[in-house]
Amino acid sequence: MKRMIKFGLIFCLLITAAMLPGQVKAQSLKENPALDEKVKKILSDHSGQWHDMNVPTVDGKLLYDLIIKGKYKSALEIGTSTGHSGIYIAWALSKTGGNLITIDIDEDRHKTALENFKQAGLSEYIDARLADAHSLVKELKGPFDFVFSDADKNWYKNYFIDIDPKLKVGGCFTTHNISDRSMGGRRGASSQVYLEYVRSQKNYETTLNTAGNGLLISYKKTEK
Ligand SMILES: C[S@@+](CC[C@H](N)C(=O)[O-])C[C@H]1O[C@@H](n2cnc3c(N)ncnc32)[C@H](O)[C@@H]1O
Repeated sequence: MKRMIKFGLIFCLLITAAMLPGQVKAQSLKENPALDEKVKKILSDHSGQWHDMNVPTVDGKLLYDLIIKGKYKSALEIGTSTGHSGIYIAWALSKTGGNLITIDIDEDRHKTALENFKQAGLSEYIDARLADAHSLVKELKGPFDFVFSDADKNWYKNYFIDIDPKLKVGGCFTTHNISDRSMGGRRGASSQVYLEYVRSQKNYETTLNTAGNGLLISYKKTEK
């Protein structure tokens, strides 16, 4: 009898081991070399020409890495401009199987972003809205698992408060152009007040990445 149980257990272990590669595969990233080439081409063709308050490349790459690492799928960007950060975010989402809603209030920048997304081959992953984010962010249902806040800095705290209930536990809220005066940061008082507000949210784990223009990275650990 004991021998039968032992054999049964070994059999179950072997079956589980045989299933594992399939499960790992199901969770793995979608590869699309042709899309990669298209995205790399627009990034290289426009290199040094992102002059519309766009993120520096180092921050774009950081956004990409955060999404890939967290396997995030439902992203929101506030402040599209001409689409530099949006390209990095949507490129990562094309691999995780996700999509991006991005908002800008400026019609010219919105139109240029649409053109850039098209050239990058990423339009199908992006829902670009021409709107005032003050009202649209309140209206969007979510839920989101990744947010990049990069529009009007004096509204940062309101965006955070409006999005918090729509951000999944395990999700990541990032905010651009933040510095810490206690670490020699030179940004304005409103950046410091916002930083302290986000750090006081005990259900978030927050760090500041200063490799580029200051990216505040806040992981939602629990609902409250
Ligand atoms: C710093 S730029 C965004 C740069 C962009 N993330 C990138 O890296 O390519 C900020 C953008 O926020 C937009 N913006 C400012 N206030 C806004 C509002 N209330 N609603 C929507 N967009 C707004 C501006 O028009 C501007 O294009």
